[in-house]
Amino acid sequence: MIYAENLVKIYKTSDIEVVALQGLDLTVDDGELMAIIGNSGSGKSTLLNMLGALDKPSAGKLMVDGQDLLKFDGRQAMRYQRETVGFVWQNNARNLLPYLSALDNIEVPMLFAPSGGKRARAKELLELVGMSHRAKSKLYQLSGGEQQRIAIAIALANRPRLLLADEPTGAVDTNTGKRILETLRMINRELGTTIVIVTHDIALQNSVDRVVAIRDGRTSSEFIRKTSYAQQLSDLEDLYDRTADTEQSHDEFVVMDASGHIQLPRPYLDRMQLRGRAKLRVTMPDERTIAVEKPETIPQSDS
Ligand SMILES: Nc1ncnc2c1ncn2[C@@H]1O[C@H](COP(=O)(O)OP(=O)(O)OP(=O)(O)O)[C@@H](O)[C@H]1O
Ligand SMILES: [Mg+2]
Repeated sequence: MIYAENLVKIYKTSDIEVVALQGLDLTVDDGELMAIIGNSGSGKSTLLNMLGALDKPSAGKLMVDGQDLLKFDGRQAMRYQRETVGFVWQNNARNLLPYLSALDNIEVPMLFAPSGGKRARAKELLELVGMSHRAKSKLYQLSGGEQQRIAIAIALANRPRLLLADEPTGAVDTNTGKRILETLRMINRELGTTIVIVTHDIALQNSVDRVVAIRDGRTSSEFIRKTSYAQQLSDLEDLYDRTADTEQSHDEFVVMDASGHIQLPRPYLDRMQLRGRAKLRVTMPDERTIAVEKPETIPQSDS
């Protein structure tokens, strides 16, 4: 269903470039229910935006359901968004229209679909997510968790083969999160929809087929295949320990511009107690390393 190879996404703003994905590899089988985890800023939402054709990768390869997303023009992207993928966002405001009823909300994405059977389909979806009893309620009258279940129904309206969910349980309590997760699992099982969920929720991570960790815009090699529950938990703990370790070593990537300027990561500067202008010694211990050193005695600044 998904094949990403060496996927790169660089966000360019007027003064900086952010490399959000740097050579990410990912393969997801048709019918898989999987989770993506990673620190804040590691590129999870960026990846989901690429998978949903909401934004274009800068380089690499990205195939979804046999379609080459790097070759899309605007029209193809829109068509793909309507026909191949469904989205569930953490923030309901992005999913829903507050002054329409639950049922009407679900019909919105079907506006462009061939006519006939829309109402019936909307009712069926409402039933699927266990919200039939609130069909006539306006969205603002529903709780966060209930709204999120409506959001899932909306995402499924056009029968997408791939469902993308960015922290779908991020804004609800544990029990509500559980119910949302059960809904997603049921959809995966009953409809065979491939589901990719970005989540920090450990409970959710423990009940999917596979967890892939992404770090600094790359998938780490730790793929956790579903084994026993206990094994999975201990794998996850290991993974978190390792992630914590690497965080302490400030493993950061910086982008060099055409004239060789780089910006040193803030944590390094803080640890070296460098503020404002400073003279630093630059050496090259080997062909792949440039070291920047704060001299023990600061040379008299001549500027
Ligand atoms: N539109 C944008 N323009 C510039 N930089 C961006 C843009 N979107 C994301 N970034 C940067 O890309 C990097 C990855 O961001 P992303 O939103 O993918 O992280 P994330 O893993 O989803 O984090 P979180 O867990 O906090 O949601 C970050 O450094 C972020 O600042
Ligand atoms: Mg995010």
